[in-house]
Amino acid sequence: MSGVILFLSGPNLNLLGERSPEIYGKETLADHERRFTAVVTPAGFSVHSLQSNSEATLIETIHEARTNAVAIVFNPGALTHSSWALRDALETFSGPKIEVHLSNPAAREPFRHLSTVAGAVSGSIAGFGALGYELAAHAVLAHLKA
Ligand code: DQA
Repeated sequence: MSGVILFLSGPNLNLLGERSPEIYGKETLADHERRFTAVVTPAGFSVHSLQSNSEATLIETIHEARTNAVAIVFNPGALTHSSWALRDALETFSGPKIEVHLSNPAAREPFRHLSTVAGAVSGSIAGFGALGYELAAHAVLAHLKA
């Protein structure tokens, strides 16, 4: 099998490593991408990574993925809790979609308990820190092979 997997990251995730390491860990976003890539590359897939602090850019990247990518692994950051437009965009993508969170939003402040995207993805992985992206890599491969 082959194809591009979109590794998409939302607002403030460019600051991973510096931002609240007691919650999100010491790894940078590049560390997470490496860990993810190390699992999917031997299976024949390549990874396109994009981080943006702009909701519009994230939506446009999902639209492009409709023709450029076979799967999406997405941590929408705080837009998880507010963006219905991101959910609508994800619904237009027919391949596997995995929602990832480093922390467990359900165990945090009430405003983090809602995920607008949860109903539009294949599945969600939350609360496992850096391991989450590795789990997401295995989940996406399983979906692609199914
Ligand atoms: C996050 C959880 C969100 O609530 C938060 O706004 C983030 C990161 C996570 O990976 O745990 O930016 O998506």
